[in-house]
Amino acid sequence: MSRLILLGTGAVGSAFVARHARLMAAGMALPPIFAMANSRGLQLVTGDALATLESLRAAPRVASDWLAAHDFSAGDVLVDASSSDALAARHAAWLAAGASVVTACKLGLGTALARWQAIDAARRLPGRHYGDSATVGAGLPLIREIRRLRRGGDAIHAIAGVLSGSLAWLFNHFDGELPFSAWVRRARDAGYTEPDPREDLSGEDVRRKLLILCRSAGFELEAEAVKVTSLVPEALAGLSKAKFDAALPQIDAALAQTFRASRERGEVLKFIARFENGHARVGLESLPLAHPLAQGTGTDNRVAIWTDRYHAQPLVIQGAGAGAEVTAAALLDDVLAAVEAK
Ligand SMILES: NC(=O)c1ccc[n+]([C@@H]2O[C@H](COP(=O)([O-])OP(=O)(O)OC[C@H]3O[C@@H](n4cnc5c(N)ncnc54)[C@H](OP(=O)(O)O)[C@@H]3O)[C@@H](O)[C@H]2O)c1
Repeated sequence: MSRLILLGTGAVGSAFVARHARLMAAGMALPPIFAMANSRGLQLVTGDALATLESLRAAPRVASDWLAAHDFSAGDVLVDASSSDALAARHAAWLAAGASVVTACKLGLGTALARWQAIDAARRLPGRHYGDSATVGAGLPLIREIRRLRRGGDAIHAIAGVLSGSLAWLFNHFDGELPFSAWVRRARDAGYTEPDPREDLSGEDVRRKLLILCRSAGFELEAEAVKVTSLVPEALAGLSKAKFDAALPQIDAALAQTFRASRERGEVLKFIARFENGHARVGLESLPLAHPLAQGTGTDNRVAIWTDRYHAQPLVIQGAGAGAEVTAAALLDDVLAAVEAK
């Protein structure tokens, strides 16, 4: 039986262990978790997986070079629920060594093109499986549908979408009454944004997601080919977290003006990732109400895909596209697919 090894014990890793335990208890045929690691070390699971998780999460905060001391072998299924670039840099090598990789981390497919190409070549080796459905839309059928359409002979013409749950929430709530910075603070306090909201507001995470979708659609874009217009002015980008919070209201005046201009045209503001005519860009757009991306609620992702068969009206896919629970469910779906493929 495959050895299941979980990398990362944060929000997604913990939800993965809990779901794995629930499904095992319900009688589902899953490989047991063999080992778990976080940045502080790797532990073999000798008894209850939830107890190992707790022990790793409580481990002292000292960096560990467990990666140098552990090699993964053919048949292993590695679940990357980390945010580590060093781990993502190993995905292609793990596949080449015969392991399968299932990942929520976008740093493998959504950064340098050379890294994506190495993974893409290694995942095509016989008996390998690379599960990536948790990287964009937390398991929404986006990458999967793009692949299915291409397999059926369709060319992808354009993709546009709301790909960030936190930015979706912000622009679904921003109504010109409260300043935008107040909504950012609310979103941060509710856990919708990263603890440092600049990570969401910069659009860099959305850049990675758009790159993954475009590359899956057959467009091998370099990371720099995506033009990202950040919501964070340059003067605020380099501040400490505390100073940024104090300076946050500086973004309000410009956004209030953009909001008013959009509303006067009867339009709505959305933070959009768009690929069309060979060009990729990420940033705020004002959309007419009839646009396929103008609707949407809460933190939902919403993506429109134009292809040969969906040329007049796009195919639109919408649903919960963020959160530890749905992401962990997508990882487990991919684990099952990896195990079945063996
Ligand atoms: N949260 C979501 O809704 C969501 C949705 C889709 C995708 N994702 C992606 O899923 C991944 C995990 O997200 P998260 O929210 O769970 O993040 P998180 O709570 O910050 O957890 C990240 C985990 O990665 C571990 N880690 C860092 N470097 C490592 C290394 N070298 N070796 C092993 N583990 C390492 C951390 O270890 P320590 O505990 O020791 O710091 C931590 O356990 C990220 O790539 C994220 O972008 C998240």
